[in-house]
Amino acid sequence: RGLQVERLRERVHAVPDFPSPGILFRDITPLLADAGAFGLCIDALAAPWQGAGVEAVCGIESRGFIFGAALAQRLGVGFVPLRKPGKLPPPLVEVEYQLEYGHDRLQAREGALVDGARTLIVDDVLATGGTLTAAHELVTRLGARTVGAGVVIELDALGGRARWPEDIPLHALLHY
Ligand code: PRP
Ligand code: MG
Repeated sequence: RGLQVERLRERVHAVPDFPSPGILFRDITPLLADAGAFGLCIDALAAPWQGAGVEAVCGIESRGFIFGAALAQRLGVGFVPLRKPGKLPPPLVEVEYQLEYGHDRLQAREGALVDGARTLIVDDVLATGGTLTAAHELVTRLGARTVGAGVVIELDALGGRARWPEDIPLHALLHY
């Protein structure tokens, strides 16, 4: 288990000063390009949820789609994309959330989730937590129930976990 996590960590590259000076960017493209590592990553994301009765996986545009779609297939459930504005036709349900500068929205089709569906939310990175928390709010507005969240990377220093509801499990594979 620990060895597998180390193999994933080797495939996440640190890129200094991107997208702006002083920011250390965690690049997941080497992980995606390595079939073995990508497979291990999906195994590890799925592990906490085997037998948990998950009925749907929601992935957050755009990097959350990559992991979310693969995880939904691994768990044998459907995938629902939570999208940035302007991508989906109405009727829509949406949630607005704060960014460092300004705000953004996440949208889904009305009725995208069955009422009360046990839903798992997936993204690549938990940073300030604004995106993942907005996704939970959107799942709730859609009438479903968030049973947990999974991310590949958690940036501990940004404190995103503090914004996530304490009573809902949130699993991260790698911490930086
Ligand atoms: C990044 C990342 C997460 C989010 C985390 O997405 O993929 O979704 O930021 O940040 P937060 O915890 O501070 O909200 P981004 O909006 O850059 O878009 P992308 O996934 O389309 O690359
Ligand atoms: Mg994203």
